[in-house]
Amino acid sequence: MKKPTEVIKADPAGIARAAALLAEGALVALPTETVYGLGADARNGRAVAAIYAAKGRPSFNPLIVHVADAEAARRYVAWNDWAEILASAFWPGPLTLVLPLREGHGLSSLVTAGLDSLAVRVPAHPAARALLRAFGGPIAAPSANPSGRISPTTAEHVLAGLKDKIAAVLDDGPCTVGLESTIVGLTCAQPELLRAGGLPHEALEAALGQKLSIADGAEVIAPGQLASHYAPAARVRLNAKGSVGDEALLGFGPMDCDLNLSERGDLTEAAANLFDHLHRLDAMGRPIAVAVVPDNGLGAAINDRLRRAAAPREE
Ligand code: TXA
Ligand code: MG
Repeated sequence: MKKPTEVIKADPAGIARAAALLAEGALVALPTETVYGLGADARNGRAVAAIYAAKGRPSFNPLIVHVADAEAARRYVAWNDWAEILASAFWPGPLTLVLPLREGHGLSSLVTAGLDSLAVRVPAHPAARALLRAFGGPIAAPSANPSGRISPTTAEHVLAGLKDKIAAVLDDGPCTVGLESTIVGLTCAQPELLRAGGLPHEALEAALGQKLSIADGAEVIAPGQLASHYAPAARVRLNAKGSVGDEALLGFGPMDCDLNLSERGDLTEAAANLFDHLHRLDAMGRPIAVAVVPDNGLGAAINDRLRRAAAPREE
């Protein structure tokens, strides 16, 4: 029988406990500034396999490896000039870089699902950084939700989906960004945007001094992009002018609604609220209508997640 999931406070004793569990090969959910991740030692194949099992995830989905700093990242991937520019500008932060795997990397092959590239990220969250330092190794971590469900932005969301399927959750309150990291592919001649996320692509383009090409989706490069990946259980209708029938309305900007992403019409605030509000509306058991959200800045990533939430279900 599985032991109950420990809820661990993010104080020094808690960080040490979480690091010890990871070292034993156990699964520990951890806060990052984007969403909570379901962490395991990226070098330990059994621990990584346990992530897929706990999430019920299709096994071809490669995972992001979290490291303490760019120097640690360079142990696992072949670095290049684009990586240097983006890492100096945005790490630690909500940016994931996909780079060619380096020989002798020592990571479980399950982490990359057999690809010859690796997604790496240096998170900015103080508890994630403290845990990476205490553990002293690479932590593989997808978002800490059952496969096909909304990403968790609080420890309560993690427990709602994965209670007693994982050893522990390190609880440090709500995530500030609330959207997954932006993913940039650096394995081709030009940088490619693989997933819109918490770092607006305008900021990336400013640092790169050029436009980012957007992966066309012809190839499943980031399989997490499955259309219905972020689906709540309830039906979701987008660009609603108001609610129809018993729909619960998720608003944006000043309006009459059940929950508002941002009454002030602030996209950063809306991103931070997005998954929490979807969780809360989903719990009401009514269909969900969502008001128009502008598509500039973080709005692009918010609308991407909303379209996935509204897509016809694949499972
Ligand atoms: O903010 C985040 O990125 C969160 C926190 C926990 O770091 N993590 C997260 O992980 O969103 P996950 O597993 O839910 O999404 C990872 C995405 C998937 O779409 C996956 O396909 C893509 O990264 N990915 C991972 N490795 C890749 C690779 N080598 N090439 C292309 N895409 C990759
Ligand atoms: Mg995810």
